[in-house]
Amino acid sequence: MRMRKKRRSAERLSALSSLFCQYITDSYIKCDNVFDKNQPIRLEIGCGKGDFIKELSVNDAGYNYFALEKVADVIVVAAEKYASSRGLGKLSPHGLWTGPDGHIYEDEIWDIPLGMRGNVRFINADAENLDKMFEESSVSDIFANFSDPWTKNGQADRRLTAPRFLETYYKLLKPCGTFRFKTDNVQLFDYSLETVKASKLELGFYTRDLHASEKNEGNIQTEYERNFSAKGIKINYLEAVKKG
Ligand SMILES: C[S@@+](CC[C@H](N)C(=O)[O-])C[C@H]1O[C@@H](n2cnc3c(N)ncnc32)[C@H](O)[C@@H]1O
Repeated sequence: MRMRKKRRSAERLSALSSLFCQYITDSYIKCDNVFDKNQPIRLEIGCGKGDFIKELSVNDAGYNYFALEKVADVIVVAAEKYASSRGLGKLSPHGLWTGPDGHIYEDEIWDIPLGMRGNVRFINADAENLDKMFEESSVSDIFANFSDPWTKNGQADRRLTAPRFLETYYKLLKPCGTFRFKTDNVQLFDYSLETVKASKLELGFYTRDLHASEKNEGNIQTEYERNFSAKGIKINYLEAVKKG
């Protein structure tokens, strides 16, 4: 049997576009009318295929979450996994979204009722624009897991723990809000310890072996974390706090 070609991310996104927030230049994302419950906001940067946010948003359901990812083909998988986990349907083998009532969405937007959308929204955008997406002191916690290490000369400024990004996190976080960062990459971790220490954030707990540490309990493993860990690579982790 010949399968139809996997559909493009833009077409797959349209069915679940109610779970996305558009970032429009010069306009903050209005968190008040995005979620049905008014709860503190958390943000994951570079959510990849979304395993972490899917689990965290259930375990810590007293928050509303934004999951940011710059690659459309990747964030569409995250949204589909989340939607399936919340009983909103599934992707058919032909690449079309099938709602819980069996309706197949072909190039059609499903206006999911607000009460069914749950506490996660996805943003297909680059973290470069974060300071324009969220208002100052509006975010309770920021997570960045296994972000790209940018190891070549002259690329350090692109790391999500570069001074300019830490400055943005400081601005967006509420007082006592945290930035939490995990990586397999020792060079990136060493760099991040130094940039955090030099930033306005205060370095809190950190470890070079998260899974052997006191923070392992309740730790949600990301897709990359599981892969690195299976190869025996230790996971580095740090927390930094915006002191009030
Ligand atoms: C190595 S993957 C890790 C994915 C996931 N966090 C995990 O741990 O399994 C890094 C992800 O971050 C995304 N990313 C990297 N830089 C980004 C940026 N500046 N803005 C948004 N997403 C970014 C990449 O597209 C990629 O999907």
